[in-house]
Amino acid sequence: MQTERLLLSPLGLADLNETHRVYADPETWLHLPSGRHTELAQTEQMVRRAEQDWSEQGAGAWAVRLRHGVNDLAEGAFIGTGGINVTVGGAWNLGYRLTPASWGKGLATELALAAMAFAAELSAQTPVTGRVLENNPASFVVLEKAGLKLRWQYAETASDHGSQRSDDPHSTIALPRRIYADREIDADLLNQLIALG
Ligand SMILES: CC(C)(COP(=O)(O)OP(=O)(O)OC[C@H]1O[C@@H](n2cnc3c(N)ncnc32)[C@H](O)[C@@H]1OP(=O)(O)O)[C@@H](O)C(=O)NCCC(=O)NCCS
Repeated sequence: MQTERLLLSPLGLADLNETHRVYADPETWLHLPSGRHTELAQTEQMVRRAEQDWSEQGAGAWAVRLRHGVNDLAEGAFIGTGGINVTVGGAWNLGYRLTPASWGKGLATELALAAMAFAAELSAQTPVTGRVLENNPASFVVLEKAGLKLRWQYAETASDHGSQRSDDPHSTIALPRRIYADREIDADLLNQLIALG
């Protein structure tokens, strides 16, 4: 699949080292430093999950490459991952993670629009959702540009500090965050998305 500037191919083990460079880069985790991949095995696990998504769901993360050079980035450069995969309640989850050298050029928006078109082609009746931390405006601006609207917002206040807990040290359940969807979603799906953190 391709867009004006991007070449999108199902993420696979052949992309492992390039993917790890992006996932191990502290700059791609500024909004959630604990999520950074410190071991290649973490990225391998994620890539294998993407391969499984593609074989079981017919959709999953893409490896994202440039069709033409953009500034310092050469033609064919791997710039990150993104796309749709099935989440709770059978809904699509839209996500992306791109290398900082590619930011601010509308490339994530181009990727997100391609993912929306792909979701509609595969299953137009399935909502597309996105979960994003409040401290990551670039990410929720991309969701908004792709046509998703804010459906829920959790803003931690002094009075509820610590009321949301998880045993997982990497959980985002207690962090201010937002849930977006491209259409109205029912309370059951919303609650399942909230529970993901
Ligand atoms: C989020 C991310 C994919 C955005 O990539 P990108 O290619 O720079 O995105 P785009 O250029 O398509 O669009 C970003 C938009 O956010 C806006 N934006 C960026 N920083 C912003 C800020 N601090 N406040 C408000 N808007 C902001 C940009 O101005 C742009 O909008 P514009 O085109 O109207 O000017 C990229 O920053 C990234 O990979 N970050 C690290 C990983 C990550 O956060 N992934 C998402 C996890 S939910």
